[in-house]
Amino acid sequence: MRRLVPPVLVALAVAGLWILALPAAPVDQPIAFNHARHAAVACAVCHRGAETAARAGIPQSNVCTRCHATAPDRSVSARAWSDVAAGRPIAWRQVTQVPEHVMFSHRRHTSLAQLACASCHGDAAARVTPFGAPATRIAMTTCLSCHTREGASEDCAACHR
Ligand code: HEC
Ligand code: HEC
Ligand code: HEC
Ligand code: HEC
Ligand code: HEC
Repeated sequence: MRRLVPPVLVALAVAGLWILALPAAPVDQPIAFNHARHAAVACAVCHRGAETAARAGIPQSNVCTRCHATAPDRSVSARAWSDVAAGRPIAWRQVTQVPEHVMFSHRRHTSLAQLACASCHGDAAARVTPFGAPATRIAMTTCLSCHTREGASEDCAACHR
């Protein structure tokens, strides 16, 4: 006799599908940064560790003021820009993140494996609004499907501390 799928599992699966189908809530960033307007600038000018370190990093005031001595335009309030001009930290919220127990190195993937940023982050240079959610869901299966394809390590200890 066939066993029925418990209704609670069906309910969970439906709830899961709904969550996946919902648009990601936009993350409230201190400045409505526009990547497309900066498409002529190399990623590593702002994300300094993207090719050389574990963390890419999100640029702080001192990077912005190298090009913008004054407020760029009306899209940023004078108050927000006076904080930047004074060198106060911009409270960016990072949205793409692995949990504490996972090791990830940008250098390993960009410099050694020569992967394009877009293979994990989508077309960042075309974005006109801040990232509301990671372009690619950060999950073990996302990492492993590429590792299997590229012949990179699938050893638990390579990724987990
Ligand atoms: C390498 C130079 C450079 C750096 C560094 C830089 N910008 Fe810009 N930014 C530009 C240029 C050039 C424009 C004008 C683009 C245009 O007119 O289309 C611009 C335009 C802008 C604008 C107005 C356009 C819009 O609609 O958003 C804002 C706001 C802005 N930048 C914020 C920032 C912030 C915040 C930082 C630091 C995280 C930063 N910029 C770093 C060169 C730079
Ligand atoms: C002028 C500076 C500047 C340049 C150039 C730039 N970025 Fe960014 N980037 C930012 C800022 C500021 C943020 C945080 C606000 C946001 O999400 O837009 C950010 C956010 C991101 C994030 C999301 C980080 C998170 O919280 O998860 C990714 C991914 C990213 N950038 C990739 C790129 C790539 C790829 C390029 C080159 C094609 C690039 N960026 C070029 C300034 C820059
Ligand atoms: C193999 C996939 C992969 C590639 C390729 C990749 N990233 Fe990332 N990126 C990630 C992951 C995973 C995170 C979250 C890392 C964490 O939590 O430490 C991340 C985080 C970020 C962040 C958030 C800030 C930070 O320091 O973690 C930025 C900005 C970023 N990446 C930019 C870039 C840029 C620019 C490139 C290309 C030069 C790039 N990434 C290439 C997977 C990738
Ligand atoms: C688009 C393909 C791709 C994705 C996605 C990807 N990786 Fe990798 N990864 C590689 C390649 C290729 C290498 C081998 C790099 C080298 O030459 O050392 C590698 C190497 C590694 C290494 C070093 C392994 C060793 O041999 O010690 C770690 C750790 C790692 N990746 C973690 C991650 C994590 C965590 C994620 C997901 C958040 C991830 N990777 C996503 C392609 C990818
Ligand atoms: C290529 C990198 C990589 C390898 C290899 C890997 N993991 Fe993971 N693992 C991750 C990432 C990234 C997460 C975080 C997923 C998330 O936050 O959704 C994770 C999460 C987990 C979790 C937490 C539960 C969960 O799904 O979030 C467990 C348990 C786990 N891994 C066990 C293992 C075991 C056991 C192995 C070896 C058979 C392994 N992992 C190999 C990248 C990896």
